Amino acid sequence: MDLVLAGRAWVRGQALPCEVGVEEGRIARIAKSLTDAERAGAQVVRFRGLLLPGAVDAHVHLREPGFPQKETIRTGTLAALHGGVTTVLDMPNTQPPVTDRLAFRDKAERFAQDARVDWGLHALVDPDLRAFALGTEPVGYKLYLGPSTHVGGFPMDRLADALSGASLSGRPIVVHAEHPSVLREGRDHGNARPVQAEWGAIAALAERAPERITLLVAHCTTARGLKQAKEAGFAAEVSPHHVLLDDGALRDQGARAKVNPPLRGPKERAALWAAFAKGQATTLGSDHAPHTLEEKAAGVEKAPSGMPGVETMLPLMLAKVKARALPLGVLVRAACERPAELFGLPKGRIAPGYDADLVLVETSKVERIRAARLHSLCGWTCFEDWPAVFPQRVWLRGQEALADGEARDVRGQPARRTGKPS
Ligand code: NCD
Ligand code: ZN
Repeated sequence: MDLVLAGRAWVRGQALPCEVGVEEGRIARIAKSLTDAERAGAQVVRFRGLLLPGAVDAHVHLREPGFPQKETIRTGTLAALHGGVTTVLDMPNTQPPVTDRLAFRDKAERFAQDARVDWGLHALVDPDLRAFALGTEPVGYKLYLGPSTHVGGFPMDRLADALSGASLSGRPIVVHAEHPSVLREGRDHGNARPVQAEWGAIAALAERAPERITLLVAHCTTARGLKQAKEAGFAAEVSPHHVLLDDGALRDQGARAKVNPPLRGPKERAALWAAFAKGQATTLGSDHAPHTLEEKAAGVEKAPSGMPGVETMLPLMLAKVKARALPLGVLVRAACERPAELFGLPKGRIAPGYDADLVLVETSKVERIRAARLHSLCGWTCFEDWPAVFPQRVWLRGQEALADGEARDVRGQPARRTGKPS
């Protein structure tokens, strides 16, 4: 082995005292204690606290190319690393949008240069469907049914073709599910994009989806949306802001809390949290969508939608685990195991054969979130002062990438793929 980590680790759904042996970046063996022969020559790290699999965030907007004032691949992946997210799947609404090979290759080169965690790239399905020429190269395809920041909507009469294209592509499709015919601009944000837009969009997807498709409904905002997605055979994502914040945040924090789909009322939010805590969301994804403070200063009506979240997602949820509001098993499944499984990545589990992407946390160390200490270029958060448990150390494919809160010079790689997406 190259590395042996000895202590309590989250293995097969429970915290087990054990030794995790890592060889060539992958978890080779887990045992109560490894043999002397296995340990020979290895760096042995004994730790306190709990070792978790790194999170796989299937929904980040790292803004490069096109909007380097909001975020860069370097700052966005550093933020991910500090938040225990060891794989990011980047959204294609950059400039130019990732709709063809040229844009795809350009972005991949940038990630290869600058990423500090492992990565995959989504391609954008626009009405001419040319993105599907990329085949299985993208980690997934993204379709915006309703228009959002830096991206237009999608004509309903092309939806069936888009979904059959996705099912033939061999990769999952992620859908921003707000039905365009229900969206009304020019009203206050919540009323402009009501819950009915979500329900209508999922119903439209269910009607048109071919039998065999891997479809992830992005950022569901309602418990009913989760249920509808599940009944249609889709996976459903929730984002931290929709389960933790309600539309009161728009009054308190103004345009910073403006996001698509919008934050909902307190009752809807509480029901979504309850469903999430019961394990009813397939995945947790940050929808990390930073904008500059100057852009957000334009006021709720004019400011772009979106807020940062990749660095605070796991820490906020670990504080909820510590407060006994969320079972750790539910969190690990939604933030690590299921997103990896869905996209066919050998990540998100502490198990033999999986990448050794590991996050050490001490749940007794609850801190307060301070924007000044976060790493996103945008420099703000809607979760200032919230309790959070940040990782102490992070290993990326067996290399220590974060130690004592300091990032080391470890480079990310394109996430390798094993099994089929499921
Ligand atoms: C996203 C962004 O800013 O890129 N904004 C958002 O409110 N979620 C776009 C999106 O994915 O909708
Ligand atoms: Zn998004």
